[in-house]
Amino acid sequence: MKNKELFGGNSVCELGGGMACLSGLAIAATAGAKEVFVTDGNMRCVENVKCIIEQNRQYFGATHVVSRLLRWDVVEDLTDLKSRFDVVICADCLYYDDGRHALAETIWKILKVDGVAVILAPTRGKTFQYFVDIVEKDFMVERLMAYDTHVWELNCRVS
Ligand SMILES: C[S@@+](CC[C@H](N)C(=O)[O-])C[C@H]1O[C@@H](n2cnc3c(N)ncnc32)[C@H](O)[C@@H]1O
Repeated sequence: MKNKELFGGNSVCELGGGMACLSGLAIAATAGAKEVFVTDGNMRCVENVKCIIEQNRQYFGATHVVSRLLRWDVVEDLTDLKSRFDVVICADCLYYDDGRHALAETIWKILKVDGVAVILAPTRGKTFQYFVDIVEKDFMVERLMAYDTHVWELNCRVS
C-alpha cells in the first residue's frame, strides 16, 4: 500500500491468494488499478473470495475485480490470460516442492513483457532460494529483505 503507483491504472493478478486474497483486494480497494484478478487453485478459496467481493463491492470503485480458479499446473486455466498483466503478486506460495516450476511458468505466461512480479515469502528452509534459482534464468531478479522499515522492525522483534 506504500507503493500504490505500481498498481494505478494497471492490470493486476494475485496468484495463490488463499481464502481471503487480502493483498489483491487491498490493492483493488486503494490503488486505482484497472482490474484485479484474485486467484487460487482451490475452488473453496475462489468461492469464498467471490462472497468477500460481493460484500465489499462499494470499496472497489471503477476497478474491475474478479475471483477465479487458476491452477499453475493446468494450462487451460490461463489460456485467456496470456501476457495480460502489468503486475503479478504472490505471497507465501514457494514452499510446495512440486509447485515452484509451474508457478514460475505461470508468472512468465501471464505477465506482459515489461511486467513486474512481486513475490513475498517467509523463510521456509531454502524454498525461497530454490525459487530464485528457477526464475533467474528468465527474469531480472531483485531480492529485498528489509523491504519496509516498519515491517522489518516488527519482523526482527518476533524472530
Ligand atoms: C500458504 S497459502 C497462501 C495464501 C495467501 N497468499 C496468504 O499469504 O495468506 C498458499 C496458497 O497457494 C495455493 N496453491 C497451492 N498450489 C497451487 C497450485 N498448483 N495452483 C494454484 N494455487 C495453488 C493454495 O490453495 C493456497 O491457497
